[in-house]
Amino acid sequence: MTFRRTALAEQMATQLLRPSFLDTSLRSGLFLSGQRRVGKTTFLATDLIPALEALGAIVVYVDLWSQPQANPADLVHEAIRKTLKELQMPGSGLLKRLKQVTNLEAGAAGFKFGFKLADVGKDDGVSLAQAFQELIDQAQTDVVLIVDEVQHALGSADGDHLLHALKAARDAINTRPGTPGHFLFIGTGSHRARVQELTLKGNQAFNGAVTNEFPVLGRDFIDYVLAQVRPQLGAMLPSAEVTEAAFRSMGSRPEELMKALNVLRSLPPDALPDEHLPTIAQSLGAAAADVELQKVEAMGPLAEAVFSRICSIGGDVKGVFTSEALKAYAAQIGREVTAQEVQGIIGMMTSANLLMRVKHGHYGVTDPFVEKAWMGRLQADQLLRASPAGGVPRLKASKGS
Ligand SMILES: Nc1ncnc2c1ncn2[C@@H]1O[C@H](COP(=O)(O)OP(=O)(O)O)[C@@H](O)[C@H]1O
Ligand SMILES: [Mg+2]
Repeated sequence: MTFRRTALAEQMATQLLRPSFLDTSLRSGLFLSGQRRVGKTTFLATDLIPALEALGAIVVYVDLWSQPQANPADLVHEAIRKTLKELQMPGSGLLKRLKQVTNLEAGAAGFKFGFKLADVGKDDGVSLAQAFQELIDQAQTDVVLIVDEVQHALGSADGDHLLHALKAARDAINTRPGTPGHFLFIGTGSHRARVQELTLKGNQAFNGAVTNEFPVLGRDFIDYVLAQVRPQLGAMLPSAEVTEAAFRSMGSRPEELMKALNVLRSLPPDALPDEHLPTIAQSLGAAAADVELQKVEAMGPLAEAVFSRICSIGGDVKGVFTSEALKAYAAQIGREVTAQEVQGIIGMMTSANLLMRVKHGHYGVTDPFVEKAWMGRLQADQLLRASPAGGVPRLKASKGS
């Protein structure tokens, strides 16, 4: 049961597609950043995309988180080809819907493009600028490309090319006088610093674009959820104020809230839900980070050492393979370590979405929430070891000797 955010979506869609003078900068691109699992993808799929489509836009959506090992450029090209293909097919669902919301006549029998779909994204193939321009000219409407978890396009030459190709498309199309539609780019990301980097001048392709915080779910969502769970909770129903505070303390993550409310069900009948919910929320918040941290631990002591180094240097680390780094790992885990081993471990952590490549040879922690939790744990470890009573090791794997 998804809580719909229709009004918010309609407002955003209108700002994007029918911008007032003050909102025209959105045509340079809109980036939404928000932590993992706060509902970004859900909002895009259930609210924003339908709202954009209702205003006549053609939306191409791709989630780069879905396949962290894949080349992000390939994923985007594939999504574009899929949409174009659907538009070529007479009677396709997409064409029908487009006909309903626009005055489309010409394209009803299926779009015709002056290039082969297979050439989209090829080095010597059609440019994205040209592909989108043909599309907009035939459809006589706006095209919105949404790249979910766009920060995964950072850190590789292919990703860089892609971002520059998208900027070229934006500039070529949106500056045409009397263009029948605009090309809009929306990116979301779970890592604010990295998302912002994409819009910094001179640094990345999307300078001039707008970065906003993803609006997390709020009181209306809490009211909705409490109304849903009222029959099961009965006397254990907490107040909206306490629930909202608990929700916030868990990073505004719907799944965590549902877990916390579920715990209330197992309390003795004389318990007071408003007294227990904050504590439940606190321990669940810690447990959520634990799941991720345990993934690192399960990969062994070297993974812990590499992950710790990447966390503690903060931000983007280049020196994960230097001889100094290898020595530090060796000292920590109590045996020699080769660069090849480190490469292997980093590959594993990248596949598990714990790490991501930021630039060539640079790695960062994918989720800032996990990074913070790991740092907290490292500090607790150090405190314990420094304490006179001697340390109770909190990390399960051995720290070497
Ligand atoms: N509006 C909503 N109503 C109910 N549940 C939601 C809502 N938005 C998100 N969720 C739940 O929260 C979880 C995380 O959502 P997701 O969209 O994947 O977050 P993100 O893309 O930010 O990582 C999912 O299990 C999803 O079902
Ligand atoms: Mg998502």
